[in-house]
Amino acid sequence: MLKFLLIKILFILPFIGLSQDLLINTSNRNITTLNGTWHYIVDPYETGYYNYRYEPYDQLKQNNNSAFYNNYHTDNKMALVEYDFDKSPTLTVPGDWNSQKEKLFYYEGTIWYKRSFDHTFTKENNRLFLYFGAINYKAEVYLNGEKLGTHEGGFTPFNFEVTSIVKPTDNYLVVKVDNKRFKEAIPTINTDWWNYGGITRDVKLIEEPSTFIQDYILQLKKDTNNSITGMVKINNAKINEKVTISIPELKINSSFSANGKGVIQFEFKSKKIKYWSPTSPKLYDVYIKTAHQILKDEIGFRTIKTDGPNILLNGKSIFLRGICIHEENAMRGARAYNEADALVALNWAKELGCNYVRLAHYPHNEHIVKLADKMGLMVWEEIPVYWTVDFTNKRSLNNAKNQLAEAITRDKNRASIIIWSMANETPPSEPRNTFLKELIQHTKSIDSTRLISAALEKHNKDGVNIVDDEIGKYMDIVAFNQYTGWYGGSLEDAPEAKWSIKYNKPVVISEFGGGALQGLHGTIKERWTEEYQEYLYQQNLKMIEKIPNIRGTSPWILNDFRSPKRVLPIIQDGWNRKGLISNHGIKKKAFFTVKEFYKKMQQQYN
Ligand code: GCU
Repeated sequence: MLKFLLIKILFILPFIGLSQDLLINTSNRNITTLNGTWHYIVDPYETGYYNYRYEPYDQLKQNNNSAFYNNYHTDNKMALVEYDFDKSPTLTVPGDWNSQKEKLFYYEGTIWYKRSFDHTFTKENNRLFLYFGAINYKAEVYLNGEKLGTHEGGFTPFNFEVTSIVKPTDNYLVVKVDNKRFKEAIPTINTDWWNYGGITRDVKLIEEPSTFIQDYILQLKKDTNNSITGMVKINNAKINEKVTISIPELKINSSFSANGKGVIQFEFKSKKIKYWSPTSPKLYDVYIKTAHQILKDEIGFRTIKTDGPNILLNGKSIFLRGICIHEENAMRGARAYNEADALVALNWAKELGCNYVRLAHYPHNEHIVKLADKMGLMVWEEIPVYWTVDFTNKRSLNNAKNQLAEAITRDKNRASIIIWSMANETPPSEPRNTFLKELIQHTKSIDSTRLISAALEKHNKDGVNIVDDEIGKYMDIVAFNQYTGWYGGSLEDAPEAKWSIKYNKPVVISEFGGGALQGLHGTIKERWTEEYQEYLYQQNLKMIEKIPNIRGTSPWILNDFRSPKRVLPIIQDGWNRKGLISNHGIKKKAFFTVKEFYKKMQQQYN
């Protein structure tokens, strides 16, 4: 029985705060890729950006050919020109610069990228957008000498409209990329991962009709299992612009008129929904149609909530059998960026027996979350509020909020994403609590349908492991990292360890583990051997099983990964060795210990 309900205001609330001009679902739009070979200029002194008075050229009244974004060329032999992109070397985009050029392996600073392109509109009055999947860390973008804008944050998408600037031929696109670390940044100056710089994700031109589908969300209404609700936002909508939403398999096909803001809200009831879950990751073809375009998406419908100590997926209590993943293709020793990279990681997670992955410590590329939707892996997505962020700094807070908004805007239609994580291992304090509470509020104002968490820490008092972080009160899931047997604590006693956790909520161990050099063998007492790591896992898993309200875990980490903090010769050599799989893709003994444990948990929560 299909009943259409047109619901007005009620459903605006959960979606306020989305990144206003970010285009979503770009892969199903009319795109031209700008991936490929780009010229680059390494500019540690930012000579192409500042004059000798250290004034930014793009803020000076008078234009200056020394500014690299002018891509200045002249045949005048007398002219003083001290850069030339077209005679400069090249880098591949998407991709980090560190793994592409030995000289840039440790480089942190500014690199200018330039590429030319032609563009012929497919239809008159169409509009054109330039879209970046991500650039680490700060990007200044120029087209044909005009500044389009700036973006800060290395792991979320952004776009600019270029309709009025683009030419039919010889457009020159110049991007200043700066991955310098600084205290107020998000992440801040100190992290345990490689600060890969560059245009690290896909770059696209997106051609849209003058009136187009900007954004939308379709999900099961909170606390219901038969009500699909959502909104569609039309950019440059005409009065009463007609929008049709159809989900053929559910025999849903209904039209609405947009309000003055170009927005429609809706609710459909359907008793035939097959719910998305790891064992049956059902995705429905969804079409959003206007008079000007049809946009297709593949969306799964599932409910996710907590009830006391339980996590309920589609009303059923689950155990999160997880693994942490960094966005790195270890075998290439480089930032991961495409579907093939994602497939390598998620296939290993499946092989391990996972139904869940923690994408650490920042939003990963869109390929991996779309693949998680298809492969049936629940996802923890996090923004890099990591360790000692500058919690008193308003600019850092707004930056973190913006990264949240961009990540949620991009991924809010992915059924696989069940948890938004606010932070990792941040030291409790008043300013920190205020900071995180603002992020939680901001998240809920954008998407109140998913669970909120953060990777907290435990402390020890009189031999008892205690989790009583004040901020736990505001979390749906109490998650914490613990490294018994690596950063302290006895492995022998671990299975009998005592725990006191302040909250009657689901508990998830968001990290645990230890390092091992693959192929190094010895006794269970010898650190860095596979036997030590295996024993550490055996003892930790015995302990974890007994932790009150335990409902999941994600060991640290799937693969060995690059870290500038790991410098032990022969053993680490710039790699964090806590992977269950080496950087050559070889499984360590502990991989099978976790696999065994997950087989058991699967039976228990079947
Ligand atoms: C921390 C942190 C990770 C880090 C890991 C480690 O808990 O969250 O980013 O890599 O421990 O020490 O290996």
